[in-house]
Amino acid sequence: MIKVQGIERVFTGVHALGPIDLAIERGQFVAIVGPSGCGKSTLLRIAAGLLAPSAGELTIERADPATPLCSMVFQDYGIFPWKTVRANVRFPLDLAGIPRRRGDVLAREWLERVGVAGFEDAYPATLSGGMRQRTALARAFVANPEILLMDEPFAALDAQLRLVLQSELLRVWEAHRRTVLFVTHAIDEALLLADRIVVMSARPGRVLADISVPFPRPRHREIRADPGFGVLEERVWNLLKGEVEEHAA
Ligand SMILES: Nc1ncnc2c1ncn2[C@@H]1O[C@H](COP(=O)(O)OP(=O)(O)OP(=O)(O)O)[C@@H](O)[C@H]1O
Ligand SMILES: [Mg+2]
Repeated sequence: MIKVQGIERVFTGVHALGPIDLAIERGQFVAIVGPSGCGKSTLLRIAAGLLAPSAGELTIERADPATPLCSMVFQDYGIFPWKTVRANVRFPLDLAGIPRRRGDVLAREWLERVGVAGFEDAYPATLSGGMRQRTALARAFVANPEILLMDEPFAALDAQLRLVLQSELLRVWEAHRRTVLFVTHAIDEALLLADRIVVMSARPGRVLADISVPFPRPRHREIRADPGFGVLEERVWNLLKGEVEEHAA
């Protein structure tokens, strides 16, 4: 569905990314891990069409040109502080010209699914970080996009909340499969959520390894206790370690 061919990006003299080749199937959950500054966010921005590559080509095969292509979820919530929770979630639907009443119904359904029911009239400033991020998830899913682009969506949350949100995302994703590109620094998070982990090198980020994650679905946090989990975690860390050290040196 997504084909990345020879993508590179240079920022005024800094070779940030690539060349990268990737092929992603429809409905696949792909995690991207790599050292800081290797171009992960740059890759997502290119996929979102927010940034042009300096070289190469990214093509997306659409199933339905009538639905939005992608939604993005960022680390720092990215929801509008001046809009209520309901209006935030309805926002992509308003843009798509969906009648307000229908938009409210859909927004409510998604807020229920991510555990924010009852907070529709609240403003983001009055919500906890976890609630804001749930709202961001609801907004990303409600538009029914072909691709979800998530850039360290849980990195700003405390450890316990992160576990809760990971489980919520698993549940929602398993019920409403979408093609997902999910950037994270947490290897265990990548293993828990993804079908596949793309490990990137230090800048300029290239694909060091492309590892398939074999655990069956539906998945639960308990898979962390599976001996295979530790083995894969170690394998990814061994790949990353050298890159991180090189970058830090
Ligand atoms: N608009 C820009 N102008 C100049 N340099 C940029 C710009 N955006 C990114 N860069 C540089 O490109 C490189 C890759 O940045 P990017 O944000 O994609 O990395 P990242 O892998 O997402 O890092 P992190 O893990 O810290 O989020 C970095 O060296 C960054 O400083
Ligand atoms: Mg980044």
